[in-house]
Amino acid sequence: MRSKLRGKDFITLRDWSKEEIDILLEVSAEIKEKFKKGEVTPYLPYQTMFLMFFEQSTRTRNSMEAGFAQLGGHANFLDTSTMQISHGEEARDTAAILSSYGHAIACRNCFWGIGNKYLNDMAKHSKVPIMNLQCDLFHPMQGIADLLTITEHKGKTKNLKVSIIWAYATSHKKPISVPLTQALLFPRYGMDVTLAYPEGFELPDWVIVEAKENAEKNGGSFRITLDMKEAYTNADIVIPKNWGSWSGKKGDMDLEQFKDWKCTEEMIKLASPDVKYMHALPADRGNEVEDSVIDGPHSIVLDEAENRLHTAKAVMILTMG
Ligand code: CP
Repeated sequence: MRSKLRGKDFITLRDWSKEEIDILLEVSAEIKEKFKKGEVTPYLPYQTMFLMFFEQSTRTRNSMEAGFAQLGGHANFLDTSTMQISHGEEARDTAAILSSYGHAIACRNCFWGIGNKYLNDMAKHSKVPIMNLQCDLFHPMQGIADLLTITEHKGKTKNLKVSIIWAYATSHKKPISVPLTQALLFPRYGMDVTLAYPEGFELPDWVIVEAKENAEKNGGSFRITLDMKEAYTNADIVIPKNWGSWSGKKGDMDLEQFKDWKCTEEMIKLASPDVKYMHALPADRGNEVEDSVIDGPHSIVLDEAENRLHTAKAVMILTMG
């Protein structure tokens, strides 16, 4: 099975079966153990990967670059503003050329209505695997790291109460790709997922339909609430994070009215005593979350961010090995 994943694109976890995702988790755990022991793992020697970024990144860029170096390869970082893309070169041409120079192409393009299409256009014209480093719809590298982190901390996924909660932020309009990925993925692992947001921050209808189907097939549940406190109550995992209003239904909303959608110690007290606080990072401290929570005993954000390295390496090993 592992060898069957060679050449497979990693654009969305929807295209990966549960059996394939389980293998990703297994390889992630194996490669993490080797890294902790200081063992060298040159599984992809002399391979080249291209990392195209339309937006800023700390975790994704560095987990990919460091991870690929640790596997014996070289990752070529490409700021797309310095490429001929800025003069209109199309995805298919960029993909065809870069795929003739190396062994994989990875790309972050979060432009709404454009990013996912861009990655799929590249996949159609690339001879090598395409990896999604976050688009307007999906962030599979984050999703798989989150899943690994949850299994490590909770030892199970079945009927774990996980709340994905919208949070107020002023830093920038964040894509919906993290909550969307989590909403689709977690019910596949039998979790009881609650999605909470103030009106205007819905996820697309097709996501809700699919999340509920995933829950039904796998013995979990999926529900929506507009009540933040309800989402925190008795939760085993809380993931309060900002995302932008993609629908535009509400026009330019006055965000200040949602300032109370913050993860505070008071909210954490409503959750289960051993609740874990997660965030993909970067967090908007003071707005999305109080320092005492993100730096406190319930927070597992550093483990979550560290796992980005191990899971990214597993994706590379399986699709390029
Ligand atoms: N979580 C995440 O994708 O972080 P970066 O934007 O820093 O890559």
